[in-house]
Amino acid sequence: MSDQTYAPSADFAANAHIDAAKYKEMYAASVNDPEAFWREHGQRLDWIRPYSRVKDVNFDFGSVSIKWFEDGTLNVAANCIDRHLAERGDQTAIIWEPDEPGDEALHISYKELHAQTCKMANVLKALGVGKGDRVVIYLPMIPEAAYAMLACARIGAIHSVVFAGFSPDALGARVNGCDAKVVITADEAPRGGRATKLKDNVNQALLHDTRDVKALVVRRTGGQVAWRRDLDFWWHEEAEKVSPDCPPEEMGAEDPLFILYTSGSTGQPKGVVHTSGGYLVYAAMTQELVFDYHEGDVFWCTADVGWVTGHSYIVYGPLANGATTLMFEGVPTYPDASRFWQVCEKHKVNQFYTAPTAIRALMGQGTEYVSRCDLSSLKVLGTVGEPINPEAWTWYNDNVGQGRCPIVDTWWQTETGGHLLTPLPGAIPTKPGSATLPFFGVEPAVLEPESGKEITDTEASGVLALKDSWPGQMRTVWGDHERFEATYFQQYKGYYFSGDGCKRDADGYYWITGRVDDVINVSGHRMGTAEVESALVAHAKVAEAAVVGYPHSIKGQGIYAYVTLMNGVEPTEALRKELEAWVRTEIGPIAKPDLIQWAPGLPKTRSGKIMRRILRKIAEDDYGALGDTSTLADPSVVDELIENRMNRG
Ligand code: WT7
Repeated sequence: MSDQTYAPSADFAANAHIDAAKYKEMYAASVNDPEAFWREHGQRLDWIRPYSRVKDVNFDFGSVSIKWFEDGTLNVAANCIDRHLAERGDQTAIIWEPDEPGDEALHISYKELHAQTCKMANVLKALGVGKGDRVVIYLPMIPEAAYAMLACARIGAIHSVVFAGFSPDALGARVNGCDAKVVITADEAPRGGRATKLKDNVNQALLHDTRDVKALVVRRTGGQVAWRRDLDFWWHEEAEKVSPDCPPEEMGAEDPLFILYTSGSTGQPKGVVHTSGGYLVYAAMTQELVFDYHEGDVFWCTADVGWVTGHSYIVYGPLANGATTLMFEGVPTYPDASRFWQVCEKHKVNQFYTAPTAIRALMGQGTEYVSRCDLSSLKVLGTVGEPINPEAWTWYNDNVGQGRCPIVDTWWQTETGGHLLTPLPGAIPTKPGSATLPFFGVEPAVLEPESGKEITDTEASGVLALKDSWPGQMRTVWGDHERFEATYFQQYKGYYFSGDGCKRDADGYYWITGRVDDVINVSGHRMGTAEVESALVAHAKVAEAAVVGYPHSIKGQGIYAYVTLMNGVEPTEALRKELEAWVRTEIGPIAKPDLIQWAPGLPKTRSGKIMRRILRKIAEDDYGALGDTSTLADPSVVDELIENRMNRG
């Protein structure tokens, strides 16, 4: 924990939406009377029927229920588009920067966004999609991804975006899991100069689906595609047949807006459900205040729309605020390590939001890639996805922000819809590596991990939980409310449990220490160790597998797999490669193990439980501190594993 603090300049604070005094005053109001606070701030949206009820929340295990603005009605797409038309119809809503720097960037006005979204909405209707139906979106980072999300919102369909890096199997499981009627995809996804054949992946994913799922296909590269007769439709052809006008459907505040699958500590990924009113209030308010967004600014969040960060801070938050949001198709290192900074210069980006893993990767390439670009437009920098190490923070601050730009380290989750712990750049002095203080209405608690007792001393160390709800909170797990309660409300009664460990320092600042469950964070993406294990054991030559995280200099955490082979199978380099490729096809490239250790046996208790604590220590190359191994059925297994460990120093 670093003690150095960086206060916003007087100039910055004077022009910011929120300064130190205002933060204190508003925060106190938000937790003293959440009803009154959110009654006021819910007004930032246009409601069709105004809400009279604000908050109706029960965190008691067994009867968890979360509702905000319950009797209000609205349309999310109308809030993100239509209400801006009169004042800013010609203003750019989306700047699109393609993968190839030589290709033309697009500037899509709010008017154009309206027409395209309405057309896509009408095409979806023509394909039989109605209110409450599910639509899977499996697209590259192209404007059609935003049109598709907003088109669903416009007609009251529920979208589930699947990251284009997921494999056909993972896609198929998600299409099936939410019983989607249509998949919106593209021929290919260009990224970093290479193209992924998305339509082929969709064909493969739907091969065994008996429900005749339709596909709406965007032509992005013109690459060859295999067509399924009567089920596949080109977007550009269908768009010609429909009107550029589609009346927005009146939706209840608690009607689902989207499902987003995310990994947990057990089982297969769960469908996180976010609803319409509260989610949009929260995404919009945090986008404006956390990044201190002002009229006319260009906002760039580098995430993919396949993750919640892209939902809240590329599409919904910025567009609800009438902002200009930048959407980037490529990767930070293509054609070279200056791409991010060139895009900032080219489009005069004012707020830039990325992940520590990207910062670390670029930092390793040297400062000349940054210093050759004009970054004078930047005002605020943000980070998200994993704890940021002070070295990366300082590099970001000195080289990208040139010491002028406050850094907002935003802690949140797919489940939270928007930022929970974060600096407000004009109000809260930052410390490298700390997500600092709670956003309005957020009441964090540090609990003793074993007893679950809340630690009320300012300085505390334990697990992070939330005492009460905020409007952006997830409402349930799609189709499995029991799993929702069991995952977040069972272990610590009366709280929402985040799954993260944390420390609170003498100034009341929060420092996230990472996951305390069997979830690892690889390049800011959440991966369930159980998912990788079940992919590995699905291979015919694998008898057993145990997966843990280990420190990785760029990814934050790497994936370390211990694999026990079937009797008689030879452990070879070729087999190692085969298993890596296997996991890629089962889940996707992000799940590929970084290290695979052949394990003749795994450390187990006498009752057969794998002792992951020991496996984590060995993977961390910290085997001197294994702790108590006396409960192991066969302690000699451990010596063998240490002897052949893969991560040395
Ligand atoms: C997990 C949530 C929310 C967007 C991206 C990831 C970790 C997230 C931070 C941060 C330390 C962070 C936590 C959290 N995390 N932001 N600023 N500092 N850790 O979303 O996939 O739902 O993962 O990411 O461990 O629980 P996600």
